Amino acid sequence: MRRRRFTGGKLVVASHNLGKVREIRELLAPFAAEVVSALDLNLAEPEETGDTFVTNAELKALAAAKTAGFPALADDSGLCIDALNGAPGIYSARWAGPSKDFGVAMGRIERVMTGKKNRRASFVCALALAWPDGYCETFEGKVTGLLSFPPRGTKGFGYDPIFIADGHSVTLAEMEPRAKHAISHRADAFQKLVAACF
Ligand code: IMP
Repeated sequence: MRRRRFTGGKLVVASHNLGKVREIRELLAPFAAEVVSALDLNLAEPEETGDTFVTNAELKALAAAKTAGFPALADDSGLCIDALNGAPGIYSARWAGPSKDFGVAMGRIERVMTGKKNRRASFVCALALAWPDGYCETFEGKVTGLLSFPPRGTKGFGYDPIFIADGHSVTLAEMEPRAKHAISHRADAFQKLVAACF
């Protein structure tokens, strides 16, 4: 089956996470897309009932595309820690609690990692591009690295201050946005999306 391509015009980024929306806008900058966010359109946040990043990205993109009436791009992503069998994974946002305080979430990770020698982790990102008629494409990206405590850096968002990507010596939160975009899980998924649909 031939893949459907995004031919320009309005695209809603189906996220209420300002860090994600900012990064997706930066990644979309070279393309002819008139980007609006779920916040701009006051779209409701659907419940993330899927059990994988891909199914959650798909359900968010489909809900936004149907409500907005034009294509929607959704991101479901998270931090997967090897010593915790992939946790927090799809529950990465929930580990920050209702106040969405990632200082709290990173403190919780530091506590549960106490005494564990294996510090390996990865960030995973699923992107879903959906149209109002229910057609949807999904792509997954990943970056591997090591957890590092205490948190360092003020750029980026979420768990960036405790993650050092393989081949680097600073956390993602200490990197300039352009440098993060060269290696991140989101950029990896984005490259696959662009190759297939843009
Ligand atoms: P969700 O995809 O909305 O369920 O939330 C994903 C959560 O994973 C975010 O709230 C962040 O905590 C975390 N996350 C995803 N991508 C990144 C990233 O690029 N840097 C840091 N944390 C991230």
